[in-house]
Amino acid sequence: MKLMAIAEDSTDRNILSHIIRSRRTIKPHNYSDKPVRKEFIEEIIENANWAPSHGRTYPWRFFVYGVEARESLADTLGTIYCEITSKEGFRENKLTGLKQNILNAPVTITIALERDKTGKISEIDEVMAVACAVQNMHLTATAFGLGGFWSTNIAATSDRYRDHLGLSGGDKVLGLFFIGYPKSWPDANRGPTDEICKWYDW
Ligand SMILES: Cc1cc2nc3c(=O)[nH]c(=O)nc-3n(C[C@H](O)[C@H](O)[C@H](O)COP(=O)(O)O)c2cc1C
Repeated sequence: MKLMAIAEDSTDRNILSHIIRSRRTIKPHNYSDKPVRKEFIEEIIENANWAPSHGRTYPWRFFVYGVEARESLADTLGTIYCEITSKEGFRENKLTGLKQNILNAPVTITIALERDKTGKISEIDEVMAVACAVQNMHLTATAFGLGGFWSTNIAATSDRYRDHLGLSGGDKVLGLFFIGYPKSWPDANRGPTDEICKWYDW
């Protein structure tokens, strides 16, 4: 009954569309120093946990780093970046960028995937479920006026980092989600939907 009431209330639909279309990738160099309240992060995580997952495996796992933990995270991931990168592949700007992102964000959440132990659910389904959870996080952050940025930097998605977090062999780390109050909110646009959608029998 509650769901019917939501569907019939155009104000709720307008708010939802407004939040979805306002969500922007906003990177840590554009964050202010304003602290982020822990209750907001708790709600962001709670909403992530309401994402759908095939077989109800709820495969998302989160590691939340606040201001006091960011230096150690930057060191850990910086070291991992150096360890896993070949001489030819090493880019000083990538290393600096990774560390600066972590040091500029009041909150960094590592996105991880813990695989269903029965093996009944495919990896792609579980990855998609985690992506749904991250979108819930990003939309909730938007509703709080917070910017978010999902970064799939090579160190933050490496098996080395997965092992460091104590996850098992089949599990994955799917990157970092940065959160902070933006100094400015970027504009964006999208193309017309008739370019991405075919309609049948309508
Ligand atoms: C799974 C995923 C991984 C992403 N990884 C990166 C990344 O490593 N670096 C980056 O600059 N942006 C990354 N992005 C953000 C995209 O660049 C961003 O979503 C895109 O530019 C559209 O901007 P918008 O999010 O404001 O609509 C990622 C987005 C997704 C969904």
